[in-house]
Amino acid sequence: MDSFRLVCFITLLGSCLLSACSQTLEAPAEAWQIPADAGEVGEQGMVSSAHPLATQVGLEVLKRGGNAFDAAIAVNYALAVVYPVAGNLGGGGFLVYRKADGEIGSLDYREMAPAAAARDMYLDQAGDPVAEWSRYGHKASGVPGTVAGMEAIFERLGSLPREQLLQPAIDLAEQGFELTENEADRFNGVQKEFRKYNRQDFYYLRGEAWEMGDRVQHLDLAKTLARIRDNGQPGFYEGETADLIVEEMKAGGGLITHEDLKEYEAKWREPITGNYKGHRIISMPPPSSGGVALLQLLEGAEAYPVSDWGHNSAQYVHLMVELERRVYADRATYLGDMDFFEVPLEELIDSAYIHDRMASISLTEKTNSQDIKPGEVDRIESFETTHFSIVDKEGNAVAITTTLNSYFGSKVMVQGAGFFLNNEMDDFSAKPGVPNQFGLVGGEANAIQPGKRMLSSMTPTIVEKDGELHMVVGTPGGATIITCVFQTILNVLEFDMGMQAAVDAKKIHSQWLPDQVYVETRALTPADSASLRQMGHELTPRSALGRMDCILVLPNGWLEGGADHSRGDNTAMGY
Ligand code: DON
Repeated sequence: MDSFRLVCFITLLGSCLLSACSQTLEAPAEAWQIPADAGEVGEQGMVSSAHPLATQVGLEVLKRGGNAFDAAIAVNYALAVVYPVAGNLGGGGFLVYRKADGEIGSLDYREMAPAAAARDMYLDQAGDPVAEWSRYGHKASGVPGTVAGMEAIFERLGSLPREQLLQPAIDLAEQGFELTENEADRFNGVQKEFRKYNRQDFYYLRGEAWEMGDRVQHLDLAKTLARIRDNGQPGFYEGETADLIVEEMKAGGGLITHEDLKEYEAKWREPITGNYKGHRIISMPPPSSGGVALLQLLEGAEAYPVSDWGHNSAQYVHLMVELERRVYADRATYLGDMDFFEVPLEELIDSAYIHDRMASISLTEKTNSQDIKPGEVDRIESFETTHFSIVDKEGNAVAITTTLNSYFGSKVMVQGAGFFLNNEMDDFSAKPGVPNQFGLVGGEANAIQPGKRMLSSMTPTIVEKDGELHMVVGTPGGATIITCVFQTILNVLEFDMGMQAAVDAKKIHSQWLPDQVYVETRALTPADSASLRQMGHELTPRSALGRMDCILVLPNGWLEGGADHSRGDNTAMGY
């Protein structure tokens, strides 16, 4: 064979082999196609967060060989720079994780009441709560938990050096970044409060309006982040940062001391687990109410043919609202920090208890909230948060929800340190039966005590199917977090939606008190609205519910990110 023929023969053989191989590789793709309406799709890893720059930071960590936990730490610190409305150093949060080998866990880095906090600290002389005291200014802050949380994740689950996880955030803070339109609007909306609750001017305060594309640099914040990079937890809870926090507290009459800061610790907790039609649900235990409430809702819904009724049909919405009334009544009574209050956890998520509790639901008529009492258990008695979801190439999954509580928390910036402090103390029950800013009521279980953690609704959640990772879910939204997570899970499991479609789908919320059903614009047809009104429900419009950042494992093993870019700047990126 001459050399020309030899080359032709080899080329032909090579292309036959290639075509045989590619046919074998392509076979599953022919069997299952990625739906046209899928969100961002990635083969190896996915990050979904509230801000494109933070998502990008997480993606780069994954591509560099970091695991999902490394990426989570880097995303958290990046959000503290580019998304200060909720991303934070001065707040707290919760992690739920599932490792590729099936190990699950959860971390509580919720803020804690300072030692000098007292049960009646937000009541005036007449014994009435003063909302301003628990929502604005220095007294509204609990001891921040975020940095301790990131350090706990780093120590137990991280794989890269701390420096690599902090540096992207430091670079963003030092070199600056451009404001999105949403961020500029947020800064403009709080100028009055910034002025009222701060000692002196700082870079978010200014005479003219902020605009999209304005460049923001945070040099003080960069230095604070560098102290954490170099010293870990003591870099925040001791030394210069602690001094600046305490100085800020003294200047504004706040309660947090050096001892409060030094004693703060993040706590590993056993996640709450349950089942929905064979899927395992893994979520956050108290001091979040999220996991318990979500399991109660799912267990309650399981008995009904919800997919036959149709997504957001009057019958489906009626059932959700009736389940939610009962679940939020239990939340108000039984849930609080388990280190201080004996929460009847096992009973609240026991299926016999839940079925018994839901037995009074009529499918044709609304129950009045005042007729609903908490269940009898044997024993006793807007979008200011942010969630992100990450999956790495090994299959490790992270769900983190973190918050300052309201927009920019207490509105107090620690002068010289460049970060906002939370107003999480408003999540305690200032007085039994008096609603907080989310309309949530509570009592003894969630009363203020020194060192106690305030009850949360944050619901970072992971769903398994057939023993494998299936979904990572979560959202901000105060009291609406639980019901948005509930609906998003059902959107996928019952209504065959992909992740992006499940996130985009219009949401509906109810929470026992007030006796209202909040309906996102265009969530219901006029006919379904009329049916619900006929059943007795009072419908109240809401412009937006939920701002989810979720991930779904697709049938071919790839990942679909669902990021709420219709309600915010949320962005998923995969590779
Ligand atoms: O922990 C909680 O439940 C609240 N502090 C969360 C606040 C929140 O989601 C605000 N965003 N809309």
